[in-house]
Amino acid sequence: MNSVESIISTYLPRIEKNLTELTPAAHLSDERLVAACRYSLLNGGKRLRPILVYLTGELFNAHQDDLNRISSAIECIHSYSLVHDDLPAMDDDELRRGRPTCHIAFDEATAILVGDALQCLAFETITECEFIGTSTNNQLKIVNTLAHASGLVGMCGGQALDIDATNRAISLEQLERVHKLKTGALLKSAITMGALAGNATNTEISALARYAESIGLAFQVQDDILDIEGDTQTLGKPQGSDLEANKATYPALLGLQGAKDKAHDLVNQAIAALSEIDADTGRLKAIAEYIIARDH
Ligand code: IPE
Ligand code: IPE
Ligand code: MG
Ligand code: MG
Ligand code: MG
Repeated sequence: MNSVESIISTYLPRIEKNLTELTPAAHLSDERLVAACRYSLLNGGKRLRPILVYLTGELFNAHQDDLNRISSAIECIHSYSLVHDDLPAMDDDELRRGRPTCHIAFDEATAILVGDALQCLAFETITECEFIGTSTNNQLKIVNTLAHASGLVGMCGGQALDIDATNRAISLEQLERVHKLKTGALLKSAITMGALAGNATNTEISALARYAESIGLAFQVQDDILDIEGDTQTLGKPQGSDLEANKATYPALLGLQGAKDKAHDLVNQAIAALSEIDADTGRLKAIAEYIIARDH
């Protein structure tokens, strides 16, 4: 079955279990910080990035233990990015995944430290033992991929460009760069890391990278569309946040229909790239379609 519902129900229990086991016992650290980390990590995200790690890794028969570690690590980075993204100095939002944001439920200093701690936890998780199904060299490439996608030419760089583009007009090319870095880079790394864990060839990795670049951009275009068309309850985060903050978004530049057309084109490009992979990519196709059909 390739329906997104069946994909999610296959992987979600495993992802939640792994994430639940990740944080240390509260008495070994600051209890409040551990509680805030759990609050920010175990709170009903869609877990799209971990799911992409499994789907890609399983195309190449990667070892499940390795995929467990990679998928937990990428969700730690993503959750940290959300905690920081919501801070008053950034998007200043008060609702995330249907609950008060970390700095509202706890406080700003704690939210900053949650981000720092989750980022370290990600790298601890993928380095604390040798991977089983791939070489140490590939494991090193996986660590490097995650670091690269999270940093200056990835998520952090994109977040800085996003802030810089607030309250001013930017070109479509510049906006594409913002979206590719702040959201696309980490999504792409999910796919690259899954493929590396399964010892995929460079040709396979570059075809998958093209799929990933297209769905990564489509994902943020849809996120921008949902900021206009979604409702706060379903989104679990405040509808209209981009408009209120005068953010550079695809709908702001292309209009709502233009943004929807763009998202459709990107998904078609992603699906076309999958034809180069000699394995059953039906589930990756379903995820691509879900990315623009989703309502949250
Ligand atoms: C939201 O990501 C932030 C973006 C990068 C657009 P998700 O839509 O994947 O958020 P969760 O993890 O499901 O809450
Ligand atoms: C966030 O983009 C990208 C991240 C790196 C977290 P947004 O600011 O659009 O994400 P939401 O809409 O708050 O989830
Ligand atoms: Mg933001
Ligand atoms: Mg935001
Ligand atoms: Mg958004």
